[in-house]
Amino acid sequence: MKINVLTLFPEMFTAVTESSILGKAAEKGILDINLINIRDFSKDRHNKADDTPYGGGVGMVMFCQPIFDALRSIGAEEKKIIYMSPRGSVLNQGKIEELASLDEMTVLCGHYEGVDQRVLDYWNMEEISIGDYVLTGGELAAMVMIDAVSRFVPGVLGTSESAADESIYSGLLEYDQYTKPRVYEGLEVPEVLFNGNHKLIHLWQFRKSLELTKEKRPDLWEAYLSEEKNLSKEEKKILEEIVLKP
Ligand code: ADE
Repeated sequence: MKINVLTLFPEMFTAVTESSILGKAAEKGILDINLINIRDFSKDRHNKADDTPYGGGVGMVMFCQPIFDALRSIGAEEKKIIYMSPRGSVLNQGKIEELASLDEMTVLCGHYEGVDQRVLDYWNMEEISIGDYVLTGGELAAMVMIDAVSRFVPGVLGTSESAADESIYSGLLEYDQYTKPRVYEGLEVPEVLFNGNHKLIHLWQFRKSLELTKEKRPDLWEAYLSEEKNLSKEEKKILEEIVLKP
């Protein structure tokens, strides 16, 4: 998958491009993160990319010319372009998987008071937020989105890690995890994990996921209950128990 990123601060993205998992994916050629410095396209004498807003007000607005030219340089016409913005619809797992199915996408990161509205309108950008809070720029939001999308690009995760077997993917929070030693300062790992019965272990994990989701995320719990599910007889019984539990 190719991800073009338009930003005034490309150096910030080393946090993502040099991380172990995404860095390896880039080396293998599975993921191509193409960082474009918007300022390089400015025709201004001082390489300016922003100006004061019409109508007054504080801060600066990134102007059209360098962004239009940067997008044309990568042939972004007719392709998916996302603008990171607290005004956008809030990112969720469904959107992440939709984006991961694309061959290429372009992400524009705004700074200061954002970008001239004509950029968004002309290029038909989709505005995406990572949550109801305001960051100093779109870069951190873009990194969050790119990291989550990359996990779903085939080959990015090793065979030992699965993109699907995690919290949220199934609509439920992930069950509790334990590792060695079996007893630490008197704290024990649940007995069931040692009995070697994979079916029993799976049912224990399923019960944990249900309990955690019901307790911590009532919104996900309601959504899960209203969904069509393909459960075994044993799983159905556990679900009924958790539903009835006060
Ligand atoms: N830019 C500033 N705040 C943001 C947010 N919450 N999500 C996406 N982009 C942003």
